[in-house]
Amino acid sequence: MFASTMPQGVVAGSIPLFAGHPAHDLLPIEAVRAVVDAAWPAPNVTRLFNYGDERGNPELISFLVDRLNREEKLGITRENLMIIGGSTWGVDMAAKQLAKPGDAVLADAPSYRDALHIFRDHQLDLFAVPIDAGGAIVEKMAESLKALAAQGRSPKFYYVVPNFQNPSGVTMPEARRRAIIQLARRYGFVILEDDVYHDIRFEEELPPSFFQLAEGKNVLRLGTFSKTLAPGLRIGWLIGSSDRIASFAGSGKLVMGGGANPFSAAIVADFCGSGAWEKHLRWLRGQYRMRRDLALGALQVSMPAAVEWTRPDGGYFIWLRLPRSVNVDDLAQLAQARGIYFASGRGFFAHPADGAHHLRLSFSYVPLDDLQYGIKALGQLIGRMLAERA
Ligand SMILES: Cc1ncc(COP(=O)(O)O)c(C=O)c1O
Repeated sequence: MFASTMPQGVVAGSIPLFAGHPAHDLLPIEAVRAVVDAAWPAPNVTRLFNYGDERGNPELISFLVDRLNREEKLGITRENLMIIGGSTWGVDMAAKQLAKPGDAVLADAPSYRDALHIFRDHQLDLFAVPIDAGGAIVEKMAESLKALAAQGRSPKFYYVVPNFQNPSGVTMPEARRRAIIQLARRYGFVILEDDVYHDIRFEEELPPSFFQLAEGKNVLRLGTFSKTLAPGLRIGWLIGSSDRIASFAGSGKLVMGGGANPFSAAIVADFCGSGAWEKHLRWLRGQYRMRRDLALGALQVSMPAAVEWTRPDGGYFIWLRLPRSVNVDDLAQLAQARGIYFASGRGFFAHPADGAHHLRLSFSYVPLDDLQYGIKALGQLIGRMLAERA
C-alpha cells in the first residue's frame, strides 16, 4: 500500500506551516460519503463511471451559474462556464491557449508559486508587477507596459489572485481593479483572475470581481472546490466569454477525455444540489477565521518588533517580512532542525532573490496547538538571529 494520510510534501511528525491544504477536521468526509451512498444504487451509479460532456457535469454547471448570478449578479449563461480539473488546470489551459513560447505575460511579485511554474513550463516571458497592501501597484504595471510597448511588445495576459492573495493574503480594492481593466483595454491583454479564495472570506463583502467590472470582456475567472470542499476531488470552474469557453472546451484533451473528472464532478454536483456545500461553507468560514485570529495573536506576542506581517480578511495565508539582517534560508535551516517548515519567500517571485527576506505561513492545515507553538518558535529563532547579528 502506498496510501498516505499526509498531504503532499508534509513530513510526518513535523509542523508544516507551509501547507496550503484544509486540515483533516475541516474536510466534510461523512457528508460526502452520504452523497456517494445515495448516488450508488444501480442503475443510477453508471453515470459516475462514464465519459462526461466536454464542458463538464451539466448539473454542476447549472448550480454554479445560478449561484454566481444570484450572489454576484454576473448575468452569465451556461455558455460562459465550464468545469475543469481544479483551478491550476485552468491556469495551464489559459497559458497554453492565450500565449506561445516567448510571449510576455504579467504576474504579481510575489504570486502563486505553481502558476509561475506553469508559466515557465510554457516558456512565457514573465514580467513581475510589485505589490503593496492593495495588490499590484498600478503605476509599476503601467511602467512595465510602456517599456514593453517601446520594444513593440504587449503582454498576452495578466495573472492575478484578486482576493486573499497567495502568498500575501492581500485583497485588491475596486479602484485598482478598474484601473487595471483600463490598462488591459489600452494594451490589449486578457485578465486571468484566479479567485480560489473567494468563498473563504471573514467579512461580508468583497470588491466586485474583474469579471464583473469588465462585464466579462477579456477576463477569464477561475474558481475551485479545493479550498471549500476537498482538493482531492480536483474540481474547479472557468468563466469567460462564450467564444473563449467554446474554444477551451473544444480542445482535444477535453473532447477526448470526456470533460473534467466526471466521477468527482457528479459527486460535487449532488453535494452542492443538496445544500450541503453552503452549509459546510458557513461553518468553514468560522473555523478559518478562528485559525486566522489565533495565528495573528501568536504573531503579536511572539515576533520581534522588526518583523512585519499582513492581516488577511480571508483565505489561508499570512505573509511575513523579515528584517534585512535575517535571511530566510538561514531561518529555514534553524526552523527545520526544530521540525518547523514554512514556505520560503523565494518560490513566489520570478526572481527568487526578491524573496530572501519573506516567508509565508498557512493557518489552514496544522492543529491549533502546533500553529501557536510553531509561530512562537519562529519568533524565538528570529529574535536569536537578530541578537547575534546586532
Ligand atoms: C492562487 C491559487 N490558485 C490555485 C490553487 C490550486 O487550486 P486547485 O486545487 O483548484 O488547482 C491554489 C492552491 O494553493 C492557489 O493558492
